[in-house]
This record gives sequence, C-alpha cells and structure tokens, in this order.
Amino acid sequence: MSALLQVRAVTQRFAGLVAVGNVSFTLAQGEILGLIGPNGAGKTTLINLISGTITPSAGQVLFDGRDVTRLPAYRRARLGIGRTFQIMQPFPGLSVLDNVAIGALFGHGGGPSQLAKAREQARQSLEFVGLGQFADQRADELGGPGRKRLELAKALAMKPRLLLCDEVMAGLNHVEIEEVIAVIRKVREQGISVLVIEHVIKAIRSLSDRLLVLHHGEKIADGTPDAVLSDPTVVQAYLGKKRA
Ligand SMILES: Nc1ncnc2c1ncn2[C@@H]1O[C@H](COP(=O)(O)OP(=O)(O)OP(=O)(O)O)[C@@H](O)[C@H]1O
Ligand SMILES: [Mg+2]
Repeated sequence: MSALLQVRAVTQRFAGLVAVGNVSFTLAQGEILGLIGPNGAGKTTLINLISGTITPSAGQVLFDGRDVTRLPAYRRARLGIGRTFQIMQPFPGLSVLDNVAIGALFGHGGGPSQLAKAREQARQSLEFVGLGQFADQRADELGGPGRKRLELAKALAMKPRLLLCDEVMAGLNHVEIEEVIAVIRKVREQGISVLVIEHVIKAIRSLSDRLLVLHHGEKIADGTPDAVLSDPTVVQAYLGKKRA
C-alpha cells in the first residue's frame, strides 16, 4: 500500500498553546486509521490541518505526493479530502437531500455542475448511509443519530479519496454505532482511506487497521490496535481514565 496522506512534523500553536506538536504519520490508500486521545489532545485540530480549515505553524501535509499545506480547504476538497464536523451544522431550512447536494457540488474534481446531477449523487449518498427515506425531510427535523449520518453523506457526496471522520459515533447507542461502523467499512471497500476520531474504544478497536494516539498534542503511540491499546503509556495517559 502506498501512502495517500503524509503528515510531516506538523505543529499548530494557538497563542501560547501547542495544540498539535511535531506530529508525523502516514495513511495508506484503503487504510482505516483510528485517532484517539483525551479531550483537548489535538485530534480535531489535526483534522483541521489536513482538511485545510487551518494552516499549520510548521510542518507539511502531502496528499497523493502533492504538498497541500497551504491550499485552502475548498481546493483540498476538490483533490479528494472530505471531512465531517464534530459540531454538526446542517443548513436548517434545506431538505436533507439538498444539504447533501451541496456537498456534491463542491466535491472531488469540482463535482457535478448541475443541481439535478448533484441531487442524484446526493440521493446515492443518502441511500449509502441509510438515510434514503428522509431525503425530502428538512435537515433540522433529523435527530442526533440522523445528523451524524447526514454529516457522513455530505462528505461522501464529495467523492473523497480520503474521508476524515470527527466523532461520527458520539452520542449513538451500540446498535447505531454498529451501523455506522458498517458504513465506514463499506467506504473502505471502495478503496477510500479513512481517518476516524472516536472515543468508543470497542468501536475503534474493531474498525481500525492502525491506531494513533495523541496526548497534549503529541503523538504517543502509532501501531496495531492491540499493541497500542496495551501500551502502558497509552493506558496511563488515556485508557486509565476511561471505560472501554
Ligand atoms: N481555534 C482555536 N483557538 C484557540 N485554541 C484552540 C482552537 N482550536 C482548538 N484549540 C485548543 O487546542 C487544543 C486541542 O483542541 P482540539 O479541539 O483539537 O482537541 P480534541 O482532541 O479534538 O478534543 P475533543 O476530544 O474534546 O474533541 C485545546 O486545548 C483547544 O482548546
Ligand atoms: Mg475534537
């Protein structure tokens, strides 16, 4: 497997705070990488650096061999970097379908230029995540679990080659979590690489090929789920404070 994403010595400072400190890792084509760590560890900041919401204080982000460190988010989206947001912000007055169609219009390669095509793409993404029957409902009528799926459908409608998922299972019950895991596995079966931030250890263990752990912005472990989750440093920094 060749690396689709290379993060090289990336640092993000906010005033005096080092939110992400000198983090390096690679993500291979078709790989599912889990990203875990305590609240405030820098996980969302790392996704923001990869998707282009922010530009790092230092270091580089390479996507498919190309340096994208200074490209704006919309250009990275067109290259195939899709993401979900931890804080969901659907366009409330629009239908579920049109929320996703907007993703299709701005996605990989520029997206379908006509609204009709974008809606067709959106319908496929909604079916893919199991929201097909809610397509014509207003987005703000969806409950929490529906909004999580809507985030996934929006990102998938952009036809990403890399999907960045920020806590798409938060607040879901175990049946809903299993359903989202199945969706992410299907995504990977299409050859898409996935980076998943998640606090539910059981879910992340079963889903990830590899796990990366952040603590106070620094990478403290990177390896197979079994090796990482039994690493004493990880147990002390994170798992000791949680129930798996
Ligand atoms: N735009 C910003 N300006 C200032 N500080 C920020 C900004 N974004 C994040 N931070 C700080 O950077 C640190 C890392 O935050 P981040 O949101 O990346 O953590 P996280 O690992 O995603 O946490 P959580 O599990 O709670 O979502 C925190 O201390 C946070 O307060
Ligand atoms: Mg976060």
